[in-house]
Amino acid sequence: MELRGVIERINGSLVITRFEEEPKIGDLVEVGEMGLMGEIVRLSEKTAYIQCYEATSGLKPGEPVLDTGKPLVAELGPGLITTIFDGVQRSESTLWEIAGPFITRGIHIPALDRERRWHFEPRVEAGERVVGGDIIGVVRETEAVEHRILIPPGLRGRIREISEGDYTVVEPVAELETPWGERQELRMMQEWPVRTPRPYKERIPLVAPLITGQRVIDTFFPVAKGGAASIPGGFGTGKTVMLQQISKWADADIIVLIGCGERGNEMADVVTHFPKLIDPKTGEELIERTIIVANVSNMPVSAREASIYLGVTMGEYFRDQGYDVALMADSTSRWAEALRDVSGRLEEIPAERGFPAYLADRIAEIYERAGRVITLGSGERIGSLTILGAVSPPAGDFSEPVTTHTLRFIGTFWALDTELAFRRHFPAIHWLRSFTRYLDVASKWWSRFDPRWEEMRGKALELLEEASEIEETARIIGEKALPDEQRLVLLIAEMIREGFLVQNAFDEVDTYCEAEKQVALLRALMEFYDRTEPLVRKGIPIEKIRGLRVVPELMRLKERRGLEPIERAKAEMEREVRELEEEYREAI
Ligand SMILES: Nc1ncnc2c1ncn2[C@@H]1O[C@H](COP(=O)(O)OP(=O)(O)O)[C@@H](O)[C@H]1O
Ligand SMILES: [Mg+2]
Repeated sequence: MELRGVIERINGSLVITRFEEEPKIGDLVEVGEMGLMGEIVRLSEKTAYIQCYEATSGLKPGEPVLDTGKPLVAELGPGLITTIFDGVQRSESTLWEIAGPFITRGIHIPALDRERRWHFEPRVEAGERVVGGDIIGVVRETEAVEHRILIPPGLRGRIREISEGDYTVVEPVAELETPWGERQELRMMQEWPVRTPRPYKERIPLVAPLITGQRVIDTFFPVAKGGAASIPGGFGTGKTVMLQQISKWADADIIVLIGCGERGNEMADVVTHFPKLIDPKTGEELIERTIIVANVSNMPVSAREASIYLGVTMGEYFRDQGYDVALMADSTSRWAEALRDVSGRLEEIPAERGFPAYLADRIAEIYERAGRVITLGSGERIGSLTILGAVSPPAGDFSEPVTTHTLRFIGTFWALDTELAFRRHFPAIHWLRSFTRYLDVASKWWSRFDPRWEEMRGKALELLEEASEIEETARIIGEKALPDEQRLVLLIAEMIREGFLVQNAFDEVDTYCEAEKQVALLRALMEFYDRTEPLVRKGIPIEKIRGLRVVPELMRLKERRGLEPIERAKAEMEREVRELEEEYREAI
């Protein structure tokens, strides 16, 4: 059912249109002679307020508007992986082919290539009964990804026909007979409205951390697979580098990267550089298991608003295939600003800092789509979607609404600190202001490497905390005036910071730290403290401890490959400590 309307007024990205009959909220519309894409965001009987996803300059009152009768949907099927989409799922490369660098408006192109053929291998036979969520066949989409073709949610019946072959996404690959005797063709492509979460059978507990190879995350502030995390930080504190590191190294099957246009050139950078990154796991290009949503074309702010939902929907679709998906949004502040912009034009009553009162609900709706689930379908297939969102609070002020609301709905908070970034302590995740609610999940997982993992981690954090208090005092009375026990705490804190927390993303070895090495490093550092603390208590001067050759070595172990150097350093530590004890035996 297509409804027609006429433009009455235009206010930036908002187009006020009078329809012949009352349309539906959320409907996708084509605006003006150019056919710009838009969505109905508010209704007042036959008057619709349309949020336009393309620049509205040149649009005039009196021009026609067509309501498509459908909401904004994502096309789901082979061809998603490796593609860079804009916020309304137009492929950037196709746009470029059609329109060149100055993308003209009103271009309607299908998200998935309609010409390309994919080799479909059936996984069910004619005569079998299937329900929504069942896998009927697979396509080798890239070297890294087997795309599983699913029966769309809600559909069921008996397969009448299915055959192997090369098909486009819109050609039928099978035919289904519903319980009511209707025949229905099954295609590889399905559609899903982006603002509606995709259904699953059951939400299940999170059982494992997402391992990223970044020590401050994995060891101190882990996020669970299927959990949600936020990484807030001012300009230049390392949000983008961290999300890229996670994309590159996390033990997820599929990566969805959403660039909500921090700055235009930055997105262009992601789009040109990211595809060339090599996937350490497969040796292939990382893009082989990645989907990127990035507004590089000259889309207005409002298009950023849609991009998060689009990304999440594609993430859920791969979750439903039984994969662990990690989704990264950089940055959700730009998305929230789009929301604010539209709300302002709708003349809604603003809440804090001009953001609409429903900002918190919208943030919650996004993060609630993270989870670990038993998918639809007759098997017990498990998939997960982990959502990680960067926040860029103006002036690095964490008391602003996007940061504070996000805090309520996520399980892990990686607080980036301007001061640390300034001192080039990277990742600039502040250990005293960050937190994780997934410690239980992580502890269980890590205890396979060391049953005392949680205790060690707790002790390390405690020492860091104690050190920051001691530093306060030291600032007043000077470090030399502190008792040696406290100076040892300062030393161990420095060793934990330099030898463990600091991790250079650009160091060939240290860019990734495997789980076993994380545990071994932490253990070595904590053993150093356990071993030297009694010496200091017995009166051996702190200078002697600080002067041990193993101290600088312990701080450099992270840059050495493998576990062997750690074992050697521990033996060296034992030797040196014995020597010290020997030296002071008489005196003590
Ligand atoms: N883990 C890291 N290792 C080394 N350098 C880093 C790291 N994180 C950030 N940096 C440095 O900080 C700069 C800014 O980081 P970026 O991620 O672009 O900040 P943001 O996205 O928060 O504005 C980077 O160009 C890099 O020089
Ligand atoms: Mg950035």
